[in-house]
Amino acid sequence: MGKAKTAYVCGECGAEYSKWQGQCGECGAWNALSQVVLEPAAAAPAAARRSGWAGKLDAPKITALKDVRSSEEVRVSTGIGELDRVLGGGLVEGAVVLVGGDPGIGKSTLLLQAVARMAATLPSLYVTGEESLAQVAGRAARLDLPLDGLQALAETGVEAILQHAAAARPRLIVADSVQTLWTESLTAAPGSVSQVRESAARLVRYAKETGTAVFLVGHVTKEGGIAGPRVLEHMVDAVLYFEGESGSRFRVLRAFKNRFGAVNELGVFAMGDKGLKEVPNPSAIFLSGGSTPQPGSCVMVTREGTRPLLVEVQALVDSSPLSNPRRVAVGLEQNRLAMLLAVLHRHGGIVVGDQDVFVNVVGGIRVQETAADLPVLLAVLSSLQDRPLPEKTVAFGEVGLSGEIRPVPNGEERLREAATHGFRRAVVPKANAPKSGSFKGLEVIAVERLSQALEHAG
Ligand code: TYD
Ligand code: MG
Repeated sequence: MGKAKTAYVCGECGAEYSKWQGQCGECGAWNALSQVVLEPAAAAPAAARRSGWAGKLDAPKITALKDVRSSEEVRVSTGIGELDRVLGGGLVEGAVVLVGGDPGIGKSTLLLQAVARMAATLPSLYVTGEESLAQVAGRAARLDLPLDGLQALAETGVEAILQHAAAARPRLIVADSVQTLWTESLTAAPGSVSQVRESAARLVRYAKETGTAVFLVGHVTKEGGIAGPRVLEHMVDAVLYFEGESGSRFRVLRAFKNRFGAVNELGVFAMGDKGLKEVPNPSAIFLSGGSTPQPGSCVMVTREGTRPLLVEVQALVDSSPLSNPRRVAVGLEQNRLAMLLAVLHRHGGIVVGDQDVFVNVVGGIRVQETAADLPVLLAVLSSLQDRPLPEKTVAFGEVGLSGEIRPVPNGEERLREAATHGFRRAVVPKANAPKSGSFKGLEVIAVERLSQALEHAG
């Protein structure tokens, strides 16, 4: 073994440097670099070594891609439909899936439920580093979970875990949590970036070499990265985030990265005493539930993954004592809000330069698509004027920089969803509107310019 090499890794984005520097050149974060020890062997990725780049095996040769047979992934259902949906249709053999989320959000519960169901057909090992075996057993009993075929291990040392795994040969391992893992080969403290990274790397290597599927649980830090080391996101096949508001019983699982499926798919769950229940028809749960329309609220039809969802967006616009008024977006992108407010001023003639603007998406979900633009501006205007939108109104549409309202994909499906849930009016881009001006009892107001849309706000 040669001398151990070190590198500096950005805790925000995972970029790697050979020398320390104050600011990460990739993501611009300050003081985010920490030193990690690279094992001499770990310096060459396992795949590269196996394929012979290190010169030990046959050299790879060039092949016409059309002659290469693509390997069909073997997928197993997790027994939880919403989890399967987010994974892209089930868990792929040998895949490593990182499940991240705030402490207490329900990660251990979700995975224990999944692994208990999968264990009936797939020998499984639940490794706990945070709770004792008695606590895990207590939780399983509380949730009435079947436990046939499920083995458990309370251990945090990766070498010991892998030794047990090699003997017991499970086809699925859950490691809860990755932050508690440590490897003997490093002297750094457990929980440090190097330990988490190297321990995860060992498990990834084991998964790839044996075809064992692995779920890694990771706590998210305040900054939003999984325990600082975003590095893990690069190593694993899929990253799922488990999110939700602490006050709400709904939880949303979202794929942030997925080598085996789409990334915008959402899984929705409701928390209960018997654990997480799937919500296969989540359309209307992100509405605040008030019966009379309130100023500053607009319902949008967003499309996350393959399903349309009705989601309420709320805005509060209030005169600001600050010279630099605040723009706060929860569940939406901050910069997009600033841009939309500029368009509202320039093309809608509405001045909010002296106002604080807060925008919140109800239910703790995050909306990433541009179809939210128009509803956001309608909510902002409604709050500014202190006038609710007409009852039973929905909206969707992208707002362009020159004040045009652009169409969004799957307009008809969105309209159908709104009609199904009893909405009566929809303010939508012209290209998404049916020519007749109505759709299944829904009055459809087609707009081409922001100024036109604003006329329908009150
Ligand atoms: P837990 O799964 O331990 O969260 P995490 O692993 O993300 O830290 O869940 C936190 C607490 O919430 C725990 O005391 C169990 C409780 N809980 C329920 O009672 N019902 C549920 O459906 C869920 C998800 C959690
Ligand atoms: Mg836990």
